[in-house]
Amino acid sequence: MDVSLKIENLKKHFGEKVVLDDVSFELKSNSVTVIIGKSGTGKSVLLKLIAGILEQNSGSIQWYDSANGEAINMDQVSLSYMFQNNALFDSMTAFENIALPLLESPKKVSDEEVQDRVNTLLKQLDLENIGTVYPGQLSGGMNKRVAFARALITKPKSVLFDEPTTGLDPERKFTIFELIKRYKEVFGFSALLVSHDIPEVYTIADSVIWLDDGIVKYFGAPDEFNSVPDPSVKKFLKTGRIHD
Ligand SMILES: Nc1ncnc2c1ncn2[C@@H]1O[C@H](COP(=O)(O)OP(=O)(O)O)[C@@H](O)[C@H]1O
Ligand SMILES: [Mg+2]
Repeated sequence: MDVSLKIENLKKHFGEKVVLDDVSFELKSNSVTVIIGKSGTGKSVLLKLIAGILEQNSGSIQWYDSANGEAINMDQVSLSYMFQNNALFDSMTAFENIALPLLESPKKVSDEEVQDRVNTLLKQLDLENIGTVYPGQLSGGMNKRVAFARALITKPKSVLFDEPTTGLDPERKFTIFELIKRYKEVFGFSALLVSHDIPEVYTIADSVIWLDDGIVKYFGAPDEFNSVPDPSVKKFLKTGRIHD
């Protein structure tokens, strides 16, 4: 099922600290939306609210069946989530980490298909030789790509990627962006992606959300973001754009 998402007046605070003050936007099916914003603005908190890992203080997060516009529950959405810190299991090999969501899925998948799907992703991500290696023995960039593969293994209809390219070299960043683009075309998913790779990420982004001071200060086409006459956009693009 193709799904879309509508977020309205979302508010999240931790004690006195307001992280998200009033956040609203919509995600269409079969689209890539990039969230940008400086460190600590609540980008990861926003993804965790959408994934249901955290609960908002007010406002709504509602999924819809794109075919007929009917509201649906989150458990009907095939959603996957790539965490900013990868969240791989240290006691499992790269192969086992990637395969895990398939093995846990209520849909039965044959052993052969598990092998097939994992091996395809390992190959696409230039990880063929590390299937039997544990995360503790892999580089940060390799673990990032293992986590990325794990997020795609179930052929999700909606994916949350929290900084999938941070710390990768330019060639590997390009591979990740290309795969997001290709898998979007193949599965028809909608992706919400946190990234600091401006402008490279624009090549795959349908929309950009600029999160700042707890609100969405820009939501629209990527190419128009750079020409927003707000001086804080210029400042952000100059200073806050590459690293957390
Ligand atoms: N579980 C939590 N408890 C308290 N504060 C939190 C929690 N998670 C995030 N925060 C705070 O919320 C703010 C936004 O965090 P985060 O979403 O991780 O920022 P970023 O935009 O860099 O991803 C930060 O000040 C962070 O310390
Ligand atoms: Mg974050």
